Amino acid sequence: MRASSVFVAVALACAAVAPASAADIAAGKAKVQQICAACHGLEGNSTTPDYPRLAGQHPDYLAKALRDYQSGKRKNAIMAPMAAGLTAADIDNVAAYYAAQPPVLVDKY
Ligand code: HEC
Repeated sequence: MRASSVFVAVALACAAVAPASAADIAAGKAKVQQICAACHGLEGNSTTPDYPRLAGQHPDYLAKALRDYQSGKRKNAIMAPMAAGLTAADIDNVAAYYAAQPPVLVDKY
């Protein structure tokens, strides 16, 4: 009994401190459908080698890449304008969405 009350107390404490700005995966999916799916695929498993597969990638890696395209630290003529229109929340959301998709692995050779 005591252990379960402690668990409830800890769970409530965690819920109380959960960040208000946690990524919104559904909003990320909506943004991906509008802009990114044409090249990277709706589920992030692009079928053309020109477009990187994003499914299952670390969300912080994806978000950093997008911020770097925005700042010009990473230069690419195709991705710079794609990233330019994203807000900070959009970046967190699309990164969380693509990171949550199962990657489809293919034979390399
Ligand atoms: C017109 C095609 C196109 C569209 C649309 C597009 N991308 Fe890209 N994306 C690319 C290409 C090409 C690259 C590789 C660029 C490079 O080499 O830096 C890339 C690279 C990336 C990378 C870096 C991947 C890595 O492995 O480092 C991320 C993250 C990314 N795109 C996210 C997005 C998101 C999110 C959207 C929608 C907002 C989007 N892209 C829309 C073509 C596109």
